[in-house]
Amino acid sequence: MKTLALLFSFAFVLVFTAPTKTSDEHHLLKRIMIEANKTRDEGPEALLDSLVPADFNQVRCKEHGPEDFCIAETIISTLNQTQYGTSDNNIGTISRVLKQYNRLHPSNCTVKKNGDEEQLRALLMNLHDCAQIIFARPHPVTHHKTTPAL
Ligand SMILES: *[C@@H]1O[C@H](CO)[C@@H](O)[C@H](O)[C@H]1NC(C)=O
Ligand SMILES: *[C@@H]1O[C@H](CO)[C@@H](O)[C@H](O)[C@H]1NC(C)=O
Ligand SMILES: *[C@@H]1O[C@H](CO)[C@@H](O)[C@H](O)[C@H]1NC(C)=O
Repeated sequence: MKTLALLFSFAFVLVFTAPTKTSDEHHLLKRIMIEANKTRDEGPEALLDSLVPADFNQVRCKEHGPEDFCIAETIISTLNQTQYGTSDNNIGTISRVLKQYNRLHPSNCTVKKNGDEEQLRALLMNLHDCAQIIFARPHPVTHHKTTPAL
């Protein structure tokens, strides 16, 4: 009887602690999607038009999320908030959410200084779409191995 009770309490712990990390992760992915859309909707246009390194790779992101979320955080957090910041500071918010997500999936990434560029609005759209794909998966990506960017 005691063994059975112990078994049950062990199962209880497994059931009730395991989903926590997943729901944190789900919550953060949802926030990333919402904030990416919000920034795209609210602009300002000058911010959305601004050119950023085109290092975020949509295909790789959908397969091995962490490296590209790290790239997105690096790019977005270096945008000049004084110059482009809106009253409710969307850029600051999305950087913070990305930082929290990236703490769950630490990854090293580098952003090329003189490579191709794209508009920030394209990055935000790709980031939203990648977060949505990972969000929809039953088991979010846990790979920490990433292939180096070419
Ligand atoms: C973000 O916007 C796209 C299209 O503009 C829409 O399809 C998507 O559902 C939106 N996502 C969220 C989380 O609101
Ligand atoms: C950010 O933009 C403001 C306004 O254009 C400028 O005065 C400031 O030097 C810029 N800061 C950085 C770190 O680029
Ligand atoms: C990132 O790089 C640092 C320094 O090389 C290393 O200590 C760390 O383990 C790396 N982290 C990941 C997640 O690869």
